[in-house]
Amino acid sequence: MYKKLNILDEKNPHLRKISKDAKLPLSKEYKDLVNHAINELTYSQIEEYAEKYDLRPGMGLAFPQLGINERVIVIVYEYDEGKFENYVFVNPKITSYSDEMIATEAGEGCLSVNRDVEGHVKRYARVTVEGYDVNGNKIKVRAREELSVAFQHEIDHLNGILFYDRIDKNKPFFNENEIRLI
Ligand code: NI
Repeated sequence: MYKKLNILDEKNPHLRKISKDAKLPLSKEYKDLVNHAINELTYSQIEEYAEKYDLRPGMGLAFPQLGINERVIVIVYEYDEGKFENYVFVNPKITSYSDEMIATEAGEGCLSVNRDVEGHVKRYARVTVEGYDVNGNKIKVRAREELSVAFQHEIDHLNGILFYDRIDKNKPFFNENEIRLI
């Protein structure tokens, strides 16, 4: 029997706190949790498993969503049909970003937000993220497009920010001349 992660809802106060740096290397318990998150995010993006385990598709999770206010994020990115790459960053920092901004045309979703929220979320088209792996080794990635959006979305969670906070209430949608929609 597969045991699902307990992902907190947006109303939970954990989602609104600024998380503290995680201690490195991560404990066995936290490493297990990271692996659980990788598995679940992967399953959630494979229709057969998503159905079997009743998982909502998602490509990222941050520890605050699991009730732990420490700076750890997990992203499982489907870079090609059925092919996934995992990114686990402890204490991540965006160290550089593009001038160009983008937004996902369909808006963003979040495993803690169990409703549709419409609107475009302005994000950097490219970011460089530096941080540590679970063992405390320094790591760095350059992310673009959808993966760049995912990093910014997950790092926002570490600062108590939800994606819809960034949607302009007076003008929730952009057109192609204002921002590149992906
Ligand atoms: Ni989220």
